[in-house]
Amino acid sequence: MNPDILKVLYSREDIQAINARLAAQIKADYAGKNPLVVCILKGAILFMTDLVREIDDYLEIDFMDVSSYGDATISSGEVKIIKDLDTSVRGRDVLIVEDIVDTGRTLRYLMDMFQTRQANSIKVCTLMDKPEGRVVDVSADYVGTKVPNEFVVGYGLDYAERYRNLPYIGVLKPEVYAK
Ligand code: XMP
Ligand code: MG
Repeated sequence: MNPDILKVLYSREDIQAINARLAAQIKADYAGKNPLVVCILKGAILFMTDLVREIDDYLEIDFMDVSSYGDATISSGEVKIIKDLDTSVRGRDVLIVEDIVDTGRTLRYLMDMFQTRQANSIKVCTLMDKPEGRVVDVSADYVGTKVPNEFVVGYGLDYAERYRNLPYIGVLKPEVYAK
């Protein structure tokens, strides 16, 4: 195990089981459709690639990178687009794939934007949900697991861009933050 990890919250096997469950629901709900799966970079990349592997049906994949403005303006709920989609969402069944929903600001912004861009439907699949962090009233349609209000890393999620590659989700040792 990576020496910076204090404890593992979800093992590789736990995550695989979550993904299989979510994929089965998505496959059933989108039967006969061709959804546009929107992976939110960078955190959702491992999750998205594992998830779609479990769905042997028609779908398309695109990527979007967004970031919240700095702490000073975060209360405005403004989100900055770093990389937009290549695909038009007009008339599409959009499935946003997120790593974790915390305040809900990112999701609210994306859902409003896809609505404005005239998507046919907009749903959200998140690996993790932190309900205690919610500031904006928004919820995901598919939730892998609820997590407590702790900072988690691994399986796409980073601290200072590290740990995204870990195949499990865990909590860092406190001394790592002090470095
Ligand atoms: P909001 O607050 O808009 O933001 O729902 C969701 C985004 O915040 C990041 N986030 C985390 N990243 N460990 C992380 O590595 C965490 O525990 C965590 N909580 C929130 C993440 O980028 C997510 O997309
Ligand atoms: Mg991050």
